[in-house]
Parts: sequence; C-alpha cells; structure tokens
Amino acid sequence: MSTILISGGTVVTASGTLDADVLVAGEKIAAVLAREATGAGATGETAGGVEDSAAAVAADRVIDASGKYVLPGGIDVHTHMEMPFGGTFSADTFETGTRAAAWGGTTTIVDFAVQAKGTSLLATLEAWHAKADGNCAIDYGFHMIISDVNDTTLKEMDACIAAGVNSFKMFMAYPGVFYATDGEILLAMQQAARSGATVMMHAENGIAIDQLVAQAIAAGRTDPVNHGLTRPPELEGEATSRAITLAQVANCPLYIVHLSASQALAAVAEARDNGQNVFAETCPQYLYLSLDDLARPDFEGAKFVASPPLRPKEHQDSLWRGLRTNDLSVVSTDHCPFCFKDQKELGRGDFSKIPNGMPGVEHRMDLLHAGVAAGKLTLPRWVEVASTTPARMFGLYPRKGVIAAGSDADIVIYDPQARQTLSAATHHMNVDYSAYEGMEITGKVVTTLSRGRPVIDEGTYAGSPDHGMFLIRGLNQYLV
Ligand code: URP
Ligand code: ZN
Ligand code: ZN
Repeated sequence: MSTILISGGTVVTASGTLDADVLVAGEKIAAVLAREATGAGATGETAGGVEDSAAAVAADRVIDASGKYVLPGGIDVHTHMEMPFGGTFSADTFETGTRAAAWGGTTTIVDFAVQAKGTSLLATLEAWHAKADGNCAIDYGFHMIISDVNDTTLKEMDACIAAGVNSFKMFMAYPGVFYATDGEILLAMQQAARSGATVMMHAENGIAIDQLVAQAIAAGRTDPVNHGLTRPPELEGEATSRAITLAQVANCPLYIVHLSASQALAAVAEARDNGQNVFAETCPQYLYLSLDDLARPDFEGAKFVASPPLRPKEHQDSLWRGLRTNDLSVVSTDHCPFCFKDQKELGRGDFSKIPNGMPGVEHRMDLLHAGVAAGKLTLPRWVEVASTTPARMFGLYPRKGVIAAGSDADIVIYDPQARQTLSAATHHMNVDYSAYEGMEITGKVVTTLSRGRPVIDEGTYAGSPDHGMFLIRGLNQYLV
C-alpha cells in the first residue's frame, strides 16, 4: 500500500485549524499528526485521529504543504452533467465536468438523474449509471429528479433508496416539463417521509411565472433581462413557503435547492426556528452576480440565464448572512453549462428559449475562499459549507467531508496566497465562456487527492476517468 505524507500545512476542518501533517495510506487517511498539539496555529479541535508529531514518518512520497491549507475535498451536491434540458444537453460530460471539478478542489459531486415523463425511476437510474460509470475522475452520487408522479414512481422511490439514492428533486417551476402539482408533491413527500428520505425543491411558482413570461413576449420584451424580471423574488418566497408547509404536513425532510432570494431565506429561517427539518443551499452565482449581469447588452445577458434568476444586488448581503447563521447550510454550484454559441443562442429574440443554467463546478471553492479573504466567512465555515455539511446532509460523513483517520483521502492542498484570474481561456469546463471572466481571486488549488490518488498534482492533471466511484449514500444526518 503506497503512502503519502502531506507535511508542513495547516489542516482546516469545519471545527478549526491545526498545524499538522497528514499521513495517507492507500485510499484512506491513516493519521493526522499534530506538529504542535497545543501550540500556535491551533484555533480549535480537529476531528479524530490527532496523534503526536511524527515528522519522521517514512512515506513513499512527501508533499511539502508549507504555507498551504490542507482541506477535506470539496463536495458539490448539485451538478448537471450532460443533462437534457431546453432541447439540448448541458455541455460538460461526466468526464469533462469531474475533471474540471478536481481542478477546483472538488472531490465528490452529487448529480441529478432526470426522470422523463412516462419513464420509470429505475430505468432512469440505470441510464445515468451508464453515462457516469468509467467516466469520472472523482467520486460521485446521484439524486433523482421526479417529473412523473404516479403509483409506480412512488413505489420505485424505495428501490432508489435501496440503491443509494435517497434524495428526490421536485419542481414547482417549469409547467409541462418537470412541474409537479401540490398534490403530487405531497404524495411524494409522504412516500419519502416513510423512509426518512429528503425531498429537494426547486421553489418558484411556475404557473404564475409562465403568465408573466407570456405577457413579456407578447409585449416584445424579449431580451435576456426579462428572464429575471418575469421570475420575481416574491414568487420564489411564495413557493418556498408552500414547499415548507407541504413538508410539514407530510413530516418530510426538505432541502431547498439554489436559494437566491431574501424572501425565500426568511421562510427557511422561520421554519428552522420552528424546529422543522428544513435546509437550504445557495450557489456562488447568487453571492457574486446580479440582475445587472442579466441586463448586459448584445445578448451577453444570456450567459447568466439560470433559474431562479440572478437577483438585484441587495439579496447578496442576506445570502452571506444566511451562510453565517446556518440558515443556508450548503453552497453548491447548480453547474449546468450551456455554450454561448449555438446553445444560449437558441434564445435570441425570445429569452424563454435560452437554456437555463450556468457553469461553475470549477470555481466554487475559490469563490468561497474569496469570501473568506473578504471577511464574509471564517476559514472553518468555508470548509463546513463546501464539504462537511454537504457530506452530512447527503449521507456521506465521515467517509467524506473531514480530514480524520479512517476517512477517504480526499484532500486538497490550497495556496491561500496564489493569485488567479478566472477566464474561459484558462478554465477546464467544457463551455465557451466564464460567468466570472476577468475576476481576480486570491487562492488556488495546488493538489487534489481523490481516495489517495493525485488527480491534480502540483498544477498538472494526473487523474483518469475510470477512477471515480459511485457512492451509495445514507440518509440525511441532521434529522431529529
Ligand atoms: O437554471 C438552472 N438552474 N438549470 C438547471 C436545472 C435546475 O433547475 O436546477
Ligand atoms: Zn432547479
Ligand atoms: Zn440544478
């Protein structure tokens, strides 16, 4: 079994920082070796496996992490690789998307299998396994999108859970495509509740939105900014409240995906204060970008079309605050890239035909670190929202999400001083634009290990598409 010693770094976990070396044996973390168990640099306890300093551990390879952070690998629980949507497919395959994720310090993704109307959940799961199997540079799991609620689908939910897929996304948006009625949502929530599975909700009032969209098109308001104007934040707040009420009636754990609006956040905070099992994520695009980007001229705004839409800037402060107060527990990307050329362009002259989705899987850790550098998040909270909580929320902890003896050696060595400029010219996602073109960031991944294997090795790709394993996940570990 080969061994790697990561020496000289600062281990950052959700509970604090520690000057420690990390010994990797095969696919697992063998030990966390404190250099100064009580000395300078220790600001909290590091979970599990801390032993006395053993600088002389003989290892096959020693990686010098002096001046660097040593983090548990990022876990992005909301991606859409090669997703059929809007008459086309998202542009990253599992191969290109997981490679890009590794470049950005993400070592696990949880992607969405998408049930098409008239098909079964199990056939859908099989189809998604066929897409991903042998094509992933890092480990992966699946959630299931339910778009056809009927007796068979409801029964199949248990079979999905047995197969390691115990989170089900439903849509209050997109009538005629993924939309489910309140009654259908209630049925699926009741079914999920029987086994403790989580329903994930795309919470926008799609019925009302479709009326606003039809009015805009009829009035000749066809530019991309109208995507945002026809999906007002109030309709995200309303749908979020409704989803929370349905979940309360069904006694079902609820996870609000890609939360973007302060109205929705207020509803989540109230439900959490009431002790309900309600959780929410936001995404970097809602923390950094705004309706102003959707309003960029010459159809450039199409690059920023995703749902829920980018909001007026005022919402950003609430989202950062929600991350600090844990009303927002997770940051995922909702990575769903469509190229500007030929894909986003499908909506020239009619914003409602622009495929919804934005790229982001590569830059989540960096953009959140930029939040640390700007004083909006602490270092441990960065790790918590990007790795540890996603692991717990989706039944992967402590195998993933922590630097501790016995956990998978999914480890990122991160240089907090390095400077980089985000750009389509240098990113690794299979998409012809960057939503953050020209943005200067402090911090960069140096090395990414996935189960002990270097995938990014000191700035060079060293992975392979047959390395990533499907992860059978347990239930949400926050349920009471
Ligand atoms: O616009 C988005 N978010 N596209 C991906 C599908 C979804 O709703 O998450
Ligand atoms: Zn969604
Ligand atoms: Zn999504």
